[in-house]
Amino acid sequence: MRRALAAALGCASIAAAMVASAEPPAGAASCSGCHPSTVRVTSPVPRLAGLDRAAIVRAMQDFRSGQRVATVMDRIAKGFTDDEIQAIAAWYASQR
Ligand code: HEC
Repeated sequence: MRRALAAALGCASIAAAMVASAEPPAGAASCSGCHPSTVRVTSPVPRLAGLDRAAIVRAMQDFRSGQRVATVMDRIAKGFTDDEIQAIAAWYASQR
């Protein structure tokens, strides 16, 4: 699991670096390993770009607390502080 996640994070940062217009905050690049950064990708995992900032924050907090049932996001959300979640949510909300 740890190695798979590390591999996913590695690819994600390369993909994010290619499409991001502004510099993403710490941790944001890891999300695009699973959440597609372009509408051209068909995936059951929703895009984060353009989602409401408050909705992203709320989802992350609910995943972290276990209030919202998840397959992987509960574990991922536990790795981020409130400040990091705020920064990541604001950045994705500003992306198109
Ligand atoms: C390993 C793959 C993976 C990574 C990496 C990942 N996600 Fe997710 N994300 C998912 C999946 C799968 C779901 C659906 C819920 C579930 O089953 O966990 C989801 C759901 C979400 C949702 C809810 C979206 C909605 O509209 O319902 C948000 C918000 C979210 N992720 C944010 C993030 C953020 C922010 C990051 C980076 C810090 C991230 N995710 C990294 C796989 C991932």
